[in-house]
Amino acid sequence: MTDEPRCPHCKRHCELSSPHCKKGEEYAKETGYSKIQKTVKPESPDRKADESEKVEMNGKPDKHEKNGKPDKHKKHDRHDKNEKHDKFDKHDKHDEHDKHENHEEHDKHENHKEHDKHDKHENHKEYKKEHREERREEHRKEHRKERRKDHKEKGHEMKHEKDRESKMNKGINEKDAFSDSKMIIMEADEVREKLTMPVCIELMKEALIKLETKEAQQPLRSISQIPGGNLFGFMPAWLDDYFGAKVITAFHGNRGTKYPSHMGYVMMFDSKHGAPVGMADCSTITEIRTGAVSAAATSVLAKDDASKLAIIGCGAQGRSHLEAMLCVRPVKEVICYDIIQEAAEAFAKEQSMKFNINIKTAGSVEEAVKDADIICTLTPSKEPYMRVEWIKAGAHINAVGTFSPVTRELTSDLIAASKLYADQVEAMEKEAGEYIIPLQEGRITREHIIGSIGGVLSGKVPGRQNDMEITVFDALGLAVEDVICGRYLVCRKASTER
Ligand SMILES: NC(=O)c1ccc[n+]([C@@H]2O[C@H](COP(=O)([O-])OP(=O)(O)OC[C@H]3O[C@@H](n4cnc5c(N)ncnc54)[C@H](O)[C@@H]3O)[C@@H](O)[C@H]2O)c1
Repeated sequence: MTDEPRCPHCKRHCELSSPHCKKGEEYAKETGYSKIQKTVKPESPDRKADESEKVEMNGKPDKHEKNGKPDKHKKHDRHDKNEKHDKFDKHDKHDEHDKHENHEEHDKHENHKEHDKHDKHENHKEYKKEHREERREEHRKEHRKERRKDHKEKGHEMKHEKDRESKMNKGINEKDAFSDSKMIIMEADEVREKLTMPVCIELMKEALIKLETKEAQQPLRSISQIPGGNLFGFMPAWLDDYFGAKVITAFHGNRGTKYPSHMGYVMMFDSKHGAPVGMADCSTITEIRTGAVSAAATSVLAKDDASKLAIIGCGAQGRSHLEAMLCVRPVKEVICYDIIQEAAEAFAKEQSMKFNINIKTAGSVEEAVKDADIICTLTPSKEPYMRVEWIKAGAHINAVGTFSPVTRELTSDLIAASKLYADQVEAMEKEAGEYIIPLQEGRITREHIIGSIGGVLSGKVPGRQNDMEITVFDALGLAVEDVICGRYLVCRKASTER
């Protein structure tokens, strides 16, 4: 920007061609200025007007000029003043405008900021929403993946189990499981690991149905007295095209020593050549399969919603039965009783931790059973102790503890008031004190036995008819139950090891 010297007389840019005042011409001559130079803001929009004004003033005569000379000075001055004023005004206006503009700008800016903020806020909200959605979707995906994995694993397990089953059957049918001369021997730990309760429950159902349909057979067991007052038992069974037997000793003097009272094996034989092929610890098989048989009976006789369980006798069978009942009914409360209080307390402490379920101990059999939906009697009691007046309508009882014609746990009144089921009807008629004693007392007739569990499972025998009746399953223990476990264990090992 240049700031040209102004005429000292009129304070304007006087020049030769158009002096603004009388002395302007002189001044212009002195200074040699021939053009008006004005300082204007180049950026201003008014500058254009100034420039056009400049062009006009340079090229065309001013309307107040005559022959290139100003005519009415006052007017001109006024005009100039007005012009100044105008310019000032304009300037002011401009400033104002600028301000205004700025203001608007500012407003815009503010709005923009607000807008930005708002946008940011909105964006943030959007972002959070999206993020939430993403996270949810990820969770869902994870969940689906887990479920698929679970299903896959379960599917694999099932497939594996089925493959093994068909391999086992193939092994049995084609004798390749038994083709090796090496005997398979499975001790207690291995039996416990392989013969899980759910597997055993299914095996028991199969054995009981096959016994009912005569696909399985078992001759009468023989129990021989041996010197010293001990027992030696032989319990054979045929199942499809294989056979085996539980061979067991009962040495009651072993109680309190390192030896258990019952020891032996379930022995399996090759049905083509009769060669012994394997054997598995029978104490463990008996312990597991007895609970599993009761579970098979409970699954068809107890009420569907049976949730209160009473365990009478807190020994090995107490443990096996608790696990078995949990497999087949929605048990929520357990109450146990043992003639030895410490045995009941130890049972409650240990098993409640194992199965994560609340187990109470009772001070009497009556207290334990009075509210129970399922009752398991698991004692070697010589006298009947379970009375009908303590039993709730609709309860189911598994009577397991005794298995001789002269011993029983349930009173005659209770048997008479109940619907009676057997593991095998013929065995019940010959060996079960629970049935034989009330029959001898005339409290029941032969028709009192409804039938076998195999019969109920195969649909030939009616099960529970209503929610009021009391059902009793009397378990004697059958060789076919042991032999089917022996077959499963030996063939499973043969199919995986050979
Ligand atoms: N039916 C079958 O197939 C079969 C199979 C296995 C065992 N059993 C029988 O089941 C019973 C239990 O077997 P286990 O291996 O659990 O024996 P166990 O010795 O381990 O336990 C028996 C428990 O019953 C308790 N008891 C004894 N008399 C009692 C009574 N009158 N009232 C309350 N509690 C009493 C004992 O203190 C002990 O804790 C035995 O009589 C056994 O012969 C039957």
